[in-house]
Amino acid sequence: MASGWPPRSMRISGALQRARERLAAVADSPGAEAQTLLAAVLGVDRVYLLTHPERSLTPTQIAAFETLVTRRMGGEPLPYITGSRAFFDRDFFVNPAVLIPRPETELLLEAALEYASERAPAIAVDIGTGSGALAVTFAALHLDWQVYAVDVSPAALAVAQHNAERCGVAERIKFVEGDLLAPLLDAPVRADLIMANLPYIPSAITAALDVSRHEPTLALDGGADGLALIRRLLDRAPDVLALDGLLLLEMQYDQGAALTALAESALPGAQIDILRDYAGHERIVRIGQTKRATQAPRL
Ligand SMILES: C[S@@+](CC[C@H](N)C(=O)[O-])C[C@H]1O[C@@H](n2cnc3c(N)ncnc32)[C@H](O)[C@@H]1O
Repeated sequence: MASGWPPRSMRISGALQRARERLAAVADSPGAEAQTLLAAVLGVDRVYLLTHPERSLTPTQIAAFETLVTRRMGGEPLPYITGSRAFFDRDFFVNPAVLIPRPETELLLEAALEYASERAPAIAVDIGTGSGALAVTFAALHLDWQVYAVDVSPAALAVAQHNAERCGVAERIKFVEGDLLAPLLDAPVRADLIMANLPYIPSAITAALDVSRHEPTLALDGGADGLALIRRLLDRAPDVLALDGLLLLEMQYDQGAALTALAESALPGAQIDILRDYAGHERIVRIGQTKRATQAPRL
């Protein structure tokens, strides 16, 4: 660190400029990240920083900002530093117990919302809820559906519950610790809608990924071919998914053919579509159960 640092005082504009230059080494949008971190330190929004560039920071504020910038320089994801991530226009608390919700997952939610908007209120489940991004947003937008949020990680469930409380929907979501569909089989629950963004990255790739330095392996590692958990979920899906129910899965861009084959075998006759993400990659599998298909004998 340069001698004379930290200075006794510094203006917002100067602090932002220095941080922007440092963050350029690790961030795609160093200016925006610098603003987000300083806004978190000061407890203001980013607009305040832009409209008060001359305001002086105290030594304590300068030191606190420096600490956050240094954490980011070490590769820590911005949402873990600020404890905040936007998903479908809502602010979610995140910590290292949960995956940071990704924009691609909003496509899964959109498909769920489209399905729910055409049906009478029923039961939706989110398997591998993590931060609760899917379950909480769905519950907030479909007030008359009953929602179950399942995760094997109690630490993740605590985050999901916290987010549900923040969004005012905690009383309408049942948070259940358990393995995939097992808690629903035990209940038993027939779900009209199953949303599942389960770990789908092959183990060998997970280990080499930069994100696995910070995000939980439990949320990323999908076993040898990435499909270990999804395969197990599909296996039991006929016992939980209602007639006319919909199962939505997120997947890696190259798993479409394998997943289609698995879904055809688990739910014969189901209508299977693959949706692409904003980058044009295959990302979401939509598996629509039909009454006719469910009534056909399983071979
Ligand atoms: C990819 S993250 C998805 C989190 C969140 N649904 C989202 O979309 O941002 C997968 C989640 O599945 C959970 N998980 C892993 N194995 C599980 C299992 N066997 N049963 C239930 N949940 C599991 C992890 O703890 C993690 O929270």
